[in-house]
Amino acid sequence: STTVRVSPAALGFTAVAHSLADVVVVPQGYTVTVMTRLGDPITANTPAYKNDGTDTDFGNRIGDHHDALAWFGLSAAGGVDASSSTRGLMVQNHENITQKYLHVSTIVRDEAQVTKEMEAHGVSIVEYKDAGDRKWGYVQGSSFNRRITPFTETAFRGPAAGSAMLRTKYSPDGTKGRGTINNCANGVTGWNTYLTCEENYAGYFRRDASDDALRSPRELASLRRNGITSRTGSYSWSTAPTTNTAITRWNATISSATATSADDFRYEVNQFGWVLEIDPYDPKSTPRKRTALGRFGHEGAFVRIAANQKVAFYMGDDSGGEYLYKFVSTATWNAADANATDRLAMGDKYMDNGILYAARFNADGTGDWLPLVFGQVPPRPASSSYPDGYTFVDQADICVNTRFAGDAVGATPMDRPEWTTGNPVTGEIYLTLTNNSGRTATTTNAANPRSYSDPRVTGGASSGNPNGHIVRLRETGDNTDAKTFRWDLYMFGVDSTDYDATKTNVNVSGLTTANDFSSPDGAFFSRATNAGGQIKPLLWIETDDGAMTDRTNCMLLAAMPGTVGDGGAVTIDNGGGNTQATIVGAKATAANLRRFLVGPVDCEITGIDTTPDGRTMFVGIQHPGDSGTAAAPGGHWPYTQDGSTPAASVRPRSALIAITKNDGGVVGL
Ligand code: FEO
Ligand code: CA
Ligand code: CA
Ligand code: CA
Repeated sequence: STTVRVSPAALGFTAVAHSLADVVVVPQGYTVTVMTRLGDPITANTPAYKNDGTDTDFGNRIGDHHDALAWFGLSAAGGVDASSSTRGLMVQNHENITQKYLHVSTIVRDEAQVTKEMEAHGVSIVEYKDAGDRKWGYVQGSSFNRRITPFTETAFRGPAAGSAMLRTKYSPDGTKGRGTINNCANGVTGWNTYLTCEENYAGYFRRDASDDALRSPRELASLRRNGITSRTGSYSWSTAPTTNTAITRWNATISSATATSADDFRYEVNQFGWVLEIDPYDPKSTPRKRTALGRFGHEGAFVRIAANQKVAFYMGDDSGGEYLYKFVSTATWNAADANATDRLAMGDKYMDNGILYAARFNADGTGDWLPLVFGQVPPRPASSSYPDGYTFVDQADICVNTRFAGDAVGATPMDRPEWTTGNPVTGEIYLTLTNNSGRTATTTNAANPRSYSDPRVTGGASSGNPNGHIVRLRETGDNTDAKTFRWDLYMFGVDSTDYDATKTNVNVSGLTTANDFSSPDGAFFSRATNAGGQIKPLLWIETDDGAMTDRTNCMLLAAMPGTVGDGGAVTIDNGGGNTQATIVGAKATAANLRRFLVGPVDCEITGIDTTPDGRTMFVGIQHPGDSGTAAAPGGHWPYTQDGSTPAASVRPRSALIAITKNDGGVVGL
């Protein structure tokens, strides 16, 4: 082999300073190109986006709130070529909307406005093309271009498919559904498909007070455990006067205890909270929800493929005190499947049969994967919130009520598990824990050891764990199918300017103004194919608000990763007699952690991928300028990116950017 393994690399750029400017800032020597923005037309006949609230037809436009993204290479002839760095399909999640910028002025709940808002959610698939020397553009009207929205038909697969808990008036046999919602992070499989993850689906449903008395105790417990408690549902979609059940279904309230799922949409809530597999190369294909991977607030699904091993999927459940999960396929990876032409059949092979686990992090730096297998999972114990506890009836029940299964086996409650990613050299898995205002001194544990209350913290919650941290783990024997692992706390977030330096539990990683961050969310390792096969894996970390937005907009950092346990054992003193002994990573230095990018006003930095050669990086910019009103937006990006000053009424747009190095080199090196 000619592969030159160089690991770790050196960071090859000058750190970007804090910024509150309404522009994406990157290091000197780099260029930002704004790519697909909210509303951009993807079919040939869709008019240009006017961005004044009059635009319609979002089923043929780029959606809002760009989140996770992934590049799928195309050959010159238009076939699958995963190695292509010049032509490809950009697949991106559209997690949510900034409602006020989608309408002219008045928000009314009618079918037209609600349809527009629903269609601005979901996933977009758009062809991107390099016109030479990384002059990027998208191809309007490409035959590959597609929107997947909350209206798109989906199919259910795995243990819960066809179960009573998935039946609705639309799908009396519980095998199909309509669409996907709140698509946050993602995964890319080894067989060229895309996994989009349904995170905060619960909030879109309305459930009136009258519903409680009509539900069985089991149903009510499940609804509460999964947060389906809103009295309006996001944007009050279900109040639009219409007979279109794709809209009225957002009201999960049932009207009769004797009616059944064939009469109503009582179980529509169970149709969301899954990992949805999409074949981006086949615009006619029906996406498949993979129920074996469990139902919860799915953030992402990092896929680890290792030769002659089973395929593992690492998945966070982003809510305070929720768990990290792993699904391991029954089938052993066959490298020939990377070239399969029936790609969704490979999803059937590797994602419908296997074992789902929840993670327990022990205080000694070891961890256990606890199987969520019917017959092995005890009943979820009774508690004040769930006086009857919860007893599982079959594996479908465990898949639908995965959080109860995690409770029952004693998984470790984490500080909001967001993205997972893996080091392509070591196989170590990193998990961002964004923050947790609900973490109290008495509920700290070794893997979530910080809780403080500090009035010095500005720009965010001042108690709990306001800045988050990153945990990483290494499977025993480096085997995807391991039942145990070792772990440490790689890095702790902090605003290095506004904390009490006499407290030893805050700036644990020794961050400075050159590399401090709060609330890690997106995480990504450089591709192993960078620079023609030299493996120089940098870890990229993206942030989402937290307690630093008074000092700087959200950011992207690059790190030279170490390895689990390279820092050692420490005791974190939370004050008041509360300490946690834990295992940490090596401290941050100017050489191993640097800020690479700062985004525009109000944004969150979201998706990330590169072309296989590593010479173009794609990044998502979500909800820029969302703090103002429709008449006077809080920011105007991306119209500011070229240095111009738009009129005060110009509406900002979520957008995807391409970042290239002016000398043509690998980004970050
Ligand atoms: Fe959509 Fe947990 O971020
Ligand atoms: Ca996220
Ligand atoms: Ca987040
Ligand atoms: Ca967000």
